[in-house]
Amino acid sequence: MKTVLYPGSFDPFTNGHYDLVCRAAQLFDKVIVAVAVNAGKSPMFTLEERRELIKKCCASLPSVEVVVIEGLLVDSLEKYGVQAILRGLRAFSDFEYELQMALMNRNLKSGCETIFLTPTLKNSFVSSSLVKEIARYSGDYTAYVPGPVAEAIRRKQAGGKK
Ligand code: PNS
Repeated sequence: MKTVLYPGSFDPFTNGHYDLVCRAAQLFDKVIVAVAVNAGKSPMFTLEERRELIKKCCASLPSVEVVVIEGLLVDSLEKYGVQAILRGLRAFSDFEYELQMALMNRNLKSGCETIFLTPTLKNSFVSSSLVKEIARYSGDYTAYVPGPVAEAIRRKQAGGKK
């Protein structure tokens, strides 16, 4: 049984993230999407809200499980019986950050491997930060996120304006 863990802040989960989950589901017996804390970001959605949203988005993919991890990523690998960490690479600009994380994770836990997949071209410029920025200025972000996420952003914005 080969299990891969796909960590991220997923704030929010985009079509690019979904694209990667689908690719991973073709390659691994089990895909664990792990909503984790990125200490450098201030999120729009709570960890639990993000987990629920991703569960909805991936409901048709039976081999996908969605969890929240709150400590160091490497400390959750054994618990979930994971063989590798999965991260997405969209462009060369992602590479430096991703390489640094992959090497740090392997230093923190020997044998910890990170594999990279690339999304389809039409999702390769999509990012959670851009989606949030478009939403903040009342632009149309709905082409870049799954339906449940678009609805949740709309509700969050409506709530904020009360
Ligand atoms: O989607 P992001 O924000 O690029 O994901 C980054 C994330 C959440 C995977 C990273 O910040 C992380 O692994 N956080 C958990 C805490 C941790 O292990 N930090 C050390 C990473 S080398």
